[in-house]
Parts: sequence; C-alpha cells; structure tokens
Amino acid sequence: MEEQNNKISVLFVCLGNICRSPMAEGALVKAATDAGIDLHVESAGTAGYHIGEPPDPRAIATARANGVDISAARGQQLAPQHFHEFTHIFALDSANLAGIKAHTPRNAAAHITMLLDAIDGRKGEAVPDPYYGDESDFEACWNMVSEAADALVLRFKTDGANAKF
Ligand code: 4NP
Repeated sequence: MEEQNNKISVLFVCLGNICRSPMAEGALVKAATDAGIDLHVESAGTAGYHIGEPPDPRAIATARANGVDISAARGQQLAPQHFHEFTHIFALDSANLAGIKAHTPRNAAAHITMLLDAIDGRKGEAVPDPYYGDESDFEACWNMVSEAADALVLRFKTDGANAKF
C-alpha cells in the first residue's frame, strides 16, 4: 500500500497513565524521530487516578537510562474526543482494551488494538503492569514497548495512517 498523506496520530492507553503508556509514548517518539517519521503521540489512562501528574519516578528513570526524557508528560484520562482525534489507539493490556471498547462511539475514527499486536507472534499479549513491581519490571516494560514502537514505525513507514494491526 502506498504511504498516505493524512497524519498518523497515536494514543497509548494503560490504567494509570504514569507507567506503561508514557513509556510507550516516549519509545515511539524516539523511534519515529530516529526513522524520520512525522507523527503525533500522546498517552492516557482508562482511570483518572493520576490526572495532571508526571510519570512514576521509576518510569522516568527507566526511560532516561534508555536515552528518553518523559518527565514532561502529564496524566490524562481517556476521553470521548480521543476516538475522533487519533488514527490509532493502542491498549497496553486486555483489561484496558475492554475499558476502551466500552467507551468507543459507533463512529470512532481510530483503529483500536492491543499494542503487542504490532509484533509478529505476540498478538493478544499484554504488557504487564510494573506499578507494583521493581526496577527490573520497569526495564522489561521498556524493552517491550520499545520493540513494539520499532514495529509500529516499520508499518507506518509502508502503510502510513491506514496501517492496521
Ligand atoms: P500504569 O500503572 O497503568 O502502567 O500507569 C499503574 C499506575 C497506577 C495505578 C495502577 C497502575 N494505580 O492504581 O494508581
């Protein structure tokens, strides 16, 4: 398929929007910048526990150790307009996918899937929540979202905003 001209816009959604989804956001911004792809990236939580807060300090430290500064991110909750503003919404796990689907309007523009669907052989797999874990869980999370971000960039390069996962 030819690359499309309409702008790719990606929303990553986890529960709290302070661990997994801001790390995924940072990983995709880096992967897209490195690849020279223009896209808009944000993240959100299905819950509103951490609206306006920066990412968890362990998420900031893990991203920083991998060369990405996510400290300026601020928590937001998934909202009705997101279904029209974004071309792609990626859930970090199945509980959040169910939460997203429960709020999806009939005329949603966004293509909605699990993030790891982007990686061959990992369809339906979750990115585990590191919130109650330790540094190694955050590093494992970073590795997963980075691998997924690289896969997204490869697909966006060929299929543009029409990419389906
Ligand atoms: P996240 O992790 O969904 O990856 O941001 C969590 C962060 C906070 C909470 C749960 C999960 N919490 O219950 O406050």
